[in-house]
Amino acid sequence: MAKNTLSFVCQNCGAAYNRWQGKCESCGEWNTLAEEDTAGSVPVSIRSKRKGRTFALESLAGKSPDAPRLSSGMTELDRVTGGGFVRGSVLLVGGDPGIGKSTLLTQATSMMARAGHRIVYISGEEAVAQVRLRAERLGLSDAPVQLAAETSVEDIVSTLSEGAVPRLIVIDSIQTMWTDTVESAPGTVTQVRASAQALIRFAKKTGAAIILVGHVTKDGQIAGPRVVEHMVDAVLSFEGEGSQQFRILRAVKNRFGPTDEIGVFEMTGLGLREVTNPSELFLSERDLGTPGTAVFAGIEGTRPVLVELQALVAPTSLGTPRRAVVGWDQSRLSMVLAVLEAHCGVKLSGHDVYLNVAGGLRINEPAADMAAAAALVSSLVNAQLPTDAVYFGEISLSGVIRPVAQTPARLKEAVKLGFKRAVLPESARGEASGDAGLTLNAVGSLTTLVAEIAARGSRRGEQNAPAEKNATPARFRRGEG
Ligand code: TYD
Ligand code: MG
Repeated sequence: MAKNTLSFVCQNCGAAYNRWQGKCESCGEWNTLAEEDTAGSVPVSIRSKRKGRTFALESLAGKSPDAPRLSSGMTELDRVTGGGFVRGSVLLVGGDPGIGKSTLLTQATSMMARAGHRIVYISGEEAVAQVRLRAERLGLSDAPVQLAAETSVEDIVSTLSEGAVPRLIVIDSIQTMWTDTVESAPGTVTQVRASAQALIRFAKKTGAAIILVGHVTKDGQIAGPRVVEHMVDAVLSFEGEGSQQFRILRAVKNRFGPTDEIGVFEMTGLGLREVTNPSELFLSERDLGTPGTAVFAGIEGTRPVLVELQALVAPTSLGTPRRAVVGWDQSRLSMVLAVLEAHCGVKLSGHDVYLNVAGGLRINEPAADMAAAAALVSSLVNAQLPTDAVYFGEISLSGVIRPVAQTPARLKEAVKLGFKRAVLPESARGEASGDAGLTLNAVGSLTTLVAEIAARGSRRGEQNAPAEKNATPARFRRGEG
C-alpha cells in the first residue's frame, strides 16, 4: 500500500485530520490529536467492490421474537437496565478507574452463572489469577463463570463461536482490545472503534448480550469510549466520590429502558452492597443543628429520594464573588440567586455562595429550587431550618413557587422517614391532602418563604429552641448537642 495512511485522530471524539493541530475543531478539546495509522480502518469486506446481496424488507407489524431479558440477580442493576440484559444487545459501562466496574460485573456475572446461564468474562486488564482473587474475596469462587484473559478480538470471537452461545459476555475493558483489521496501536480510537464494531456484530449475529467496560478519564488520556457510545444500545455510567462509599449507577442512554433511573450501591470490604432505600443512606450523616441545610424531597426515575442540600453563604472581599456548586446545575443556582435578589431583596453580590448535594448524588430536577433557596437563605441569616421538614417546588423567574410532579410520592417518602412537615407549592396542596401526620406549609411565592426563614432568624434562641429538639425524628438526632 503506497498511499500514506497516517492521519491525526482526536482521542476524544474520533474526528480525523490531515495535519496535527492543537485543538479539535469537532469537539473543541485541546491536545487530543494523536497520530494513527488508519489503513484498513474500514474492514476488508466493506472495501471490496462486491455486488450487494438482496434482502427481504419487512413490515413493522411483523412478529419478532420478543426481547427476552436476562435478570442480573441484582435489583439495583436491573432497575437501571430496565429489567435485565436484552438478548443481542450491547451495553457500555463507563466510569473512572477504580470506581468498582469490575467488582460490579464480577458480582452480577456470578449471580447469573449460578442461575444456570452460560456467562463468559474476558479480562484484558487483569490476569486470570487476579480476577480469581477478587472473586475469592467476594465469596463467589464457586460460581461457574467462564473466564479468560485475552485481548485479541478475532481470537475471542472464534472461541465464543464454538459451543452454546453465551447468554452474556463481559469485555473488561474495551480499551485493551485490538483487532487485526486495523493497524493502529491498541487503545487508540481507531482500534477501540473497530474492536467494538466486531463485538457488536457478533452480538447481533448470535443473540448473546455483551457488556463493554470503558474507562473514562477526565483529561481524555485514554482513547475515549465516547466513540463507542453511539454504537451501543445502552450506556451506563458508574459514578461516585473518591472519598465516599456510595456508588451511583445511571443510564445515560438506553434503547430498551428508562434513562432516569439510578441504582445505588455501597462499596464495602466484601464488594458492592445494594442500597434499596437511598434516602436513609443520604440522610444518615446529617449535620443537625447547623444553619444552611435543607432536606429536598426528590424523585429519581420512579423512586422518591430524600437528600440534604447544604449551602454556605459567606461575605467576600473578591470583586467577583465565588459561586460553587456540587451535584446541581450551576445555571440553576444562578437563577435562584437572581430571583432572590430581584424579588425578595436578598443581596448576595457581596457573598461567596457554595451549594453541595450530600452523598455524591447529582440532582437534575427543577423541583430542588425551593430546597436550595431555603438552604441559602438559612445560611445567610444564620437561622436553622426545622430539622423535621422537607422542601420541594420549582421557582419561576417571577418568584412564584410552581407545582412539580409526583407530590404524593414525595410526601409518602417523607412520612416513611419520620419527617413531620413539608414545605411545598401552594398549588400542590390539593394533591397532598390525606397524608396523615404531615403538617403542610404551602408557599405561594419565594418572598413568603424568605420572610418565614428570616423570622426564624430573629426569633432564634428564644422560645423556639426546645420545641425544635423534640420535633427532630429520633433516627436523625445524632450529632445534636
Ligand atoms: P474495581 O472493580 O477493580 O474498579 P474498576 O474495575 O472500576 O477499575 O474496584 C477497585 C476498587 O474497589 C479498589 O480500590 C478496591 C475496592 N474494593 C473494595 O473496597 N471492596 C471489594 O470487595 C473489592 C473487590 C474492591
Ligand atoms: Mg477493572
